[in-house]
Amino acid sequence: MERNTWLILAIFTCLFVSSEGRELKIKHTHHTPVYNHTLTTILVHYASAVYMSDLTELFTWTCARCDGVTEGFQMIELVVDIQNCLQAFVGVAEDLNSIVIAFRGTQENSIQNWIEDLFWKQLDLDYPGMPDAMVHRGFYYAYHNTTIRSAILNAVKRAQEYYGDINIIATGHSMGGAMAAFCGLDLIVNCQAQNVQVVTFGQPRIGNAVFATYYSKLLPNTIRVTNGHDIVPHLPPYYYYFPQKTYHHFPTEVWLHNIGLGSLIYTVEKVCDSSGEDPTCSRSVSGNSIADHIEYFGVRLSGDAWRSCRIVMDHALVDYRRTDGEGNFVLSRDPATPVIKLNTQSGAGGNHV
Ligand SMILES: *[C@@H]1O[C@H](CO)[C@@H](O)[C@H](O)[C@H]1NC(C)=O
Ligand SMILES: *[C@@H]1O[C@H](CO)[C@@H](O)[C@H](O)[C@H]1NC(C)=O
Repeated sequence: MERNTWLILAIFTCLFVSSEGRELKIKHTHHTPVYNHTLTTILVHYASAVYMSDLTELFTWTCARCDGVTEGFQMIELVVDIQNCLQAFVGVAEDLNSIVIAFRGTQENSIQNWIEDLFWKQLDLDYPGMPDAMVHRGFYYAYHNTTIRSAILNAVKRAQEYYGDINIIATGHSMGGAMAAFCGLDLIVNCQAQNVQVVTFGQPRIGNAVFATYYSKLLPNTIRVTNGHDIVPHLPPYYYYFPQKTYHHFPTEVWLHNIGLGSLIYTVEKVCDSSGEDPTCSRSVSGNSIADHIEYFGVRLSGDAWRSCRIVMDHALVDYRRTDGEGNFVLSRDPATPVIKLNTQSGAGGNHV
């Protein structure tokens, strides 16, 4: 009898202790998205294709990076903001039953300069409607205060009218990942969209811890892929001794890193914790690699060359083009029109530039 009492007491103590532990954990866990390797390795090809500068090939989805797992993609809108050197597209991947929105990363002359600048980015903008949430103005405005946002929202609306309420996936690499995150949030907060998912590659930090908390509650279905020693996810810096004032990533990070020795090297895809700043993931190594930044899953994530916003476009696309007074434009297609027909017969003489 006595022994049983002790046993019961011991069990109770264990339950108490372990439930206390569990409670602490639950406080920090929202719904964790399931990491889907297949989907992620398809999306990286969209994040790569949006870097292409031949807009004819990109719009007709015939570019060098527009085949394989992304074959059959239905382009709806290609947005080119000449003023701010930004590029993005919206289309439908029927095999994913999803609208895919992809944002290009920076196309400055020097990726080194762009990365050095990242060290000094301030948390200098209050995110509207979220008390105490702060973000970096430059990333926020790249999406919100350029021609990008209205073109994207318009294309999503047209896609939904034609395809119904299918999933929406926003993706992008580097600064394009930051824009994808702001876009996903915008769709949830301002457009009451459902089934929004965000997958970014080598994305910098974009806001503080309060912002990250709001973000992960509103958009839990987010995967932030980091690669090896890629420097960009380490920036702007995280100061662990100053957690309320520093930049802070949102979850869920998936860290790709190689383990093994010699010829026995293989890549591990580590799904990290729900804090956004898992110290055992990318933060466990120093961010000192640009090479790791521009290749994810063996897919190149940069333009053909680092130079300012060069674009190439065929006159044949003129029927699809709408330009604003500043030279920014969109190439836009009615989703109901199955094939993009290049107007190669029009005009006298050659049409190609
Ligand atoms: C992962 O994504 C692929 C491509 O969308 C899909 O076919 C597959 O069913 C998904 N797997 C899971 C477990 O959801
Ligand atoms: C937004 O962009 C416009 C034009 O590019 C600019 O004039 C305006 O100052 C920007 N808004 C803010 C708040 O910076």
